[in-house]
Amino acid sequence: MVTQRIVELLRNGQPDESVTIKGWVRTKRELKGFAFIEVNDGSSMANLQVVLNSDLPEYEAVLKQVNTGASVEVTGVLVESPAKGQRIELKASSVKVYGEADPEKYPLQKKRHSFEFLREIGHLRSRTNTLGAVFRVRNACANAIHQFFQEREFLWVHTPIITASDCEGAGELFTVTNLNLKDVPKTDNQEIDFSQDFFGRRAYLTVSGQLEAEVMAMAFSNVYTFGPTFRAENSNTSRHLAEFWMVEPEMAFCDLQGDMDLAEEFLRYIFKSVLEKCPEDMEFFNQRIDNTVLATAENIINNQFERITYTDAIALLEKADRKFEFPVEWGADLQSEHERYLAEELFKKPVIVSNYPVGIKAFYMRLDDDEKTVSAMDVLAPKIGEIIGGSQREERLDVLERRIKSQGMNPEDLWWYLDLRRYGTVPHAGFGLGFERVVQFMTGMGNIRDVIPFPRTPLSAEF
Ligand code: 4AD
Ligand code: MG
Repeated sequence: MVTQRIVELLRNGQPDESVTIKGWVRTKRELKGFAFIEVNDGSSMANLQVVLNSDLPEYEAVLKQVNTGASVEVTGVLVESPAKGQRIELKASSVKVYGEADPEKYPLQKKRHSFEFLREIGHLRSRTNTLGAVFRVRNACANAIHQFFQEREFLWVHTPIITASDCEGAGELFTVTNLNLKDVPKTDNQEIDFSQDFFGRRAYLTVSGQLEAEVMAMAFSNVYTFGPTFRAENSNTSRHLAEFWMVEPEMAFCDLQGDMDLAEEFLRYIFKSVLEKCPEDMEFFNQRIDNTVLATAENIINNQFERITYTDAIALLEKADRKFEFPVEWGADLQSEHERYLAEELFKKPVIVSNYPVGIKAFYMRLDDDEKTVSAMDVLAPKIGEIIGGSQREERLDVLERRIKSQGMNPEDLWWYLDLRRYGTVPHAGFGLGFERVVQFMTGMGNIRDVIPFPRTPLSAEF
């Protein structure tokens, strides 16, 4: 008998159909002469109710084993359910228990657990309704991202995780060392030398695949990356991870306008696709996590984003009838409170802020004609703040060399990057989308640690 997915049976299963399901018990209810268990296999939030009658082989023994958390295989026939809220249920003819779960010790109880508590049992939390819904939405979102770019013939390029360059120039790097544990002396009193470099050179975990994506865009025109990136910033906030996933399209023959257009079209596409693929999960977030989630998605799908320059943004913040913790002044970076004011309170939709001061942005961003600003853009989302950071890149060799030096970097380290400006340079642009931030935005989840299966932050990296 083929195992069937519960989501499929709940939607299309017919009375009298013989089925076999496999999954984990969510609840057990014993009554006189029969019992109900609800089984979930992760295919959706919904459980399939299974009826165990006392004529089931080894009924008493099975009943003792099928506690919350146990893994089971149930074969039987579907019957119309007399209970409210469900169309069908499964009348079991045989139950195989793969693994029991001691009800005294199993940490997931029927009550609602706090997200803090669930983070302490990261190996079990995906079996809860909320985290289950999050990771299905995360999957649908990843799928939509690939679909969006593949439909537009962008090439998915794989950029390295170990790299010699600090793309953002912010010094937030984890270093990689070739310490070989086989060579480590076994005695306790011998100190381990962690300062060894990567086979005699400096190497880091990548903060962004952009520079390498630019290399590939100079051959394939339109490319994108989608992979893990690392930041050694000691930020314990609800929006920062030490390891997060980033999506980075890079387009040759493209300017800042084209970059902003793509970012907007891209966000609209992935929201639409997730709403179509995960309607029940999105409904759940709207009911249980944040009641603005569906309206926000509709807003993104149906309305243009606001577009303003950094200079306009400063003027608007200066006019705001409220006090900010951080000062508002031209030349200073926007803080999260400023970003949220613009997107959440003022415009009530995503805002694209462009042309930031040269002094606060990375070396590779194209210098504007006034030489005061660069062709950068950030997409700011209500509740989250920055979800996308991008720019038109500096394609002029002399200007780029000047910018690299002015940031205290050595042009020789970036000889290959400068070569791209020596041989067939073109205007080009791209952006980076913080994948976890967009999943957070979509689901309304308050903490970024709850939208990635295994969060790495300065305070947590359990396994
Ligand atoms: O703005 P960032 O630093 O831009 C870049 O890395 C560019 N090289 C991208 C490009 O143009 N190809 O990072 C891009 C996005 C941010 O907007 C944010 O959403 C996310 O990455 N991000 C983080 N997400 C989680 N935790 C962190 N510590 C993050 N830092 C950045
Ligand atoms: Mg940024």
